[in-house]
Amino acid sequence: MRKHECDCRSRKELKQGTRRRYEAQWGGYDIRKANERRLNNSPVADPLLRMILPFTGKTMVDLGVGTGGFAFRAMEFSAPERMIGVDFSSHALQISRAIARTEPFAAMDFEAVLGDVERIPIASRSADIILSQASFNLLPDKESGLKEMARIAKPGAKLLLSDVFRTKRKCEGESWEACVGGALTVAEFSTATLSAGIIITQQTDFTQKVLQLVKSKKWDWPEFVEHKLDYRGFVMQKA
Ligand SMILES: C[S@@+](CC[C@H](N)C(=O)[O-])C[C@H]1O[C@@H](n2cnc3c(N)ncnc32)[C@H](O)[C@@H]1O
Repeated sequence: MRKHECDCRSRKELKQGTRRRYEAQWGGYDIRKANERRLNNSPVADPLLRMILPFTGKTMVDLGVGTGGFAFRAMEFSAPERMIGVDFSSHALQISRAIARTEPFAAMDFEAVLGDVERIPIASRSADIILSQASFNLLPDKESGLKEMARIAKPGAKLLLSDVFRTKRKCEGESWEACVGGALTVAEFSTATLSAGIIITQQTDFTQKVLQLVKSKKWDWPEFVEHKLDYRGFVMQKA
């Protein structure tokens, strides 16, 4: 995979910066704000989740779960056997655990795990479905992230990834923390998934939907407009 030229800072520093930024962001959240965010993101999350329903009997893992914008939305549609949310922000996990104790989630199995998506603390071949919303673009080492996804997926497992993609060929000094510089192009992503043994089966362009959400102030993301980014949803399968 192409190495990113952005910012010339080491991957470790980039990751630490991202973690600090999200600890600060989620530190200002509570259950109400997280539930509101989940609802605001639903025009993008819902069509994707509907593509692979139902989740009954499935072990699902949400990578970069945050406060559960994708995971709890999935659980609202259909209760899985188990949902494991992984994130390196302890504030995010605190809020997601609190949401898991509220209705209708209290009767479901949700576990929040502190960990790095580039080294997922989950056993190999254990997930039936892997979710990832707006977090893959933040990984400094996307190759490791994809390899890890493939490792924890059972053979034939489905992967649902919703994320931002760069339309410009080159990074132009955008910061990774602003959720911009780290994004791949769709072509780069397609090559990288194939090398990790992951096959894309469906692709949906959500760019117009995200632009509407930003315009209606439901999604606070001025960089998305400024840098003319794309937003795509992918249904994928482990080979
Ligand atoms: C934009 S938020 C998305 C949260 C959630 N998926 C949602 O849709 O609401 C990105 C999340 O990815 C997490 N994250 C970024 N890089 C990570 C990494 N290397 N390991 C674990 N979590 C990471 C951040 O802490 C943050 O909670």
